[in-house]
Amino acid sequence: TPCPGELRIRQDHLLVVDEKGYITHIAPIHDDSSQSILSGLSSSSPSSSSSSSSIPMELGKHSFLLPVFTDLHIHAAQYLFCGLGLDLPLIEWLERYAYKAEERVDGDPALAERVYGTLVKRLLQNGTGCVSFFGTIGVRSNLILAKKMQEAGLRGFVGKLSMDQSPRPTYGETSASASLDSLNEFLDSLEGYLAQYKPHEKVVEPIITPRYVPVCSDELLGRLKELGDKRGVRVQSHMCEGRDQMGLVYKQRGKRDQDIWNELGFLGPKTLQAHVTYLDDEMIPLIKDREVTIAHCPLSNAYLSEKQFPLREALDKSLNVGLGTDVAGGYTLSIQNQMRQAVIISRLREGARCENMDCSFAESANKGGKNLSVDWVESIYLATRGGKKGMGLGGCLEVGMEFDAQLIELADEGSPSGVGALDLFDLQTRGIDTEEEWKVNVERWWCNGDDRNRKGMWVQGRKVL
Ligand code: GUN
Ligand code: FE
Repeated sequence: TPCPGELRIRQDHLLVVDEKGYITHIAPIHDDSSQSILSGLSSSSPSSSSSSSSIPMELGKHSFLLPVFTDLHIHAAQYLFCGLGLDLPLIEWLERYAYKAEERVDGDPALAERVYGTLVKRLLQNGTGCVSFFGTIGVRSNLILAKKMQEAGLRGFVGKLSMDQSPRPTYGETSASASLDSLNEFLDSLEGYLAQYKPHEKVVEPIITPRYVPVCSDELLGRLKELGDKRGVRVQSHMCEGRDQMGLVYKQRGKRDQDIWNELGFLGPKTLQAHVTYLDDEMIPLIKDREVTIAHCPLSNAYLSEKQFPLREALDKSLNVGLGTDVAGGYTLSIQNQMRQAVIISRLREGARCENMDCSFAESANKGGKNLSVDWVESIYLATRGGKKGMGLGGCLEVGMEFDAQLIELADEGSPSGVGALDLFDLQTRGIDTEEEWKVNVERWWCNGDDRNRKGMWVQGRKVL
């Protein structure tokens, strides 16, 4: 999906990846350019090639490559209590569960190893090959997370949290200076750790992460902005997530959340903001002109925010939007589920519009107003290219982009009777011939597929699953 709404299907193509993990060729297999690459491969004897990686791999007749999913917003330490307490309002939930879990992980490196090791593995199983993490405040546990990602080949950003105004006495930073020192220590240590890798092998980057306005002083926010500019590091936070959170900001500062971020100069192309549930006509031009990226977290919003993000409007205005699970504000690691939830919620917004119009007949529901729903193809864009574009990455299968892809097998090649996740009865005895037929079957996978359909994954050309 190179752009929202376009599902690009390429049948019988040759795709070539160089030794640094970038796509160097993608063209129909019968084109002269593809044929000359293939004949070049077969003329060199197998023994002259030092690695097996130049042996072409052929996909099965029901299989396709899709860019990996990107999870633009996830709290790593919160995986510890994933699925708990979502009936609480956001701020209570943070105090009852989130801060405690993060504190536990910071205080117990063996636990951090266990939780982060499992989390990284599970993300890859779910097709997520690129993430933007909120970690904890502790330097050591964020380094553990970064190492687990780098070793497993999971691409992404690690955000050591900054919070000098924590409501929890045992979990917070004591001053803006102490917070900055700790962040600098993390940035330097991560750089030191990554120095052993060649540039194309490094898949982990830091991201400056003031948790959200209520737990950060003005001084801290101002100094984080300066540091980000000086070190060329991206920034992420939460903005306009829910009514209680926005109310708390206003009560503390006498200003609106978005105005604080704006006045401090945070709204720019290197900023990722989670939720922005309360995006409105006034905010849209700001987000668009400054090229801010939004992590849309539909499941989390359904629990912790009281309204829905206006996704249709954001796409129509060409804002940069990707998807986030917001674990543990959302209870699933699966971006495939987030795609479905984004579509479902957009469809419910559509229904709400009809109610407002007081239309008692289906026919009149179609009159006036505008379409608020988003479809499955658009959701694939959000899960792949949309998320990556905002982070300065590729996100589709295009020459020059990183080869981050997942191999999906629609019908089980070995046993067509349905050992895989999908029962595609019509495909049991034959392959898929036309683009239209691919489209139909990919849609069925989008609805009912799961990790049983995932037969491989690569990040920067490296096999990670
Ligand atoms: N706002 C500040 N911290 C958090 C968090 O951990 N999760 C969510 N969903 N919102 C937040
Ligand atoms: Fe969050």
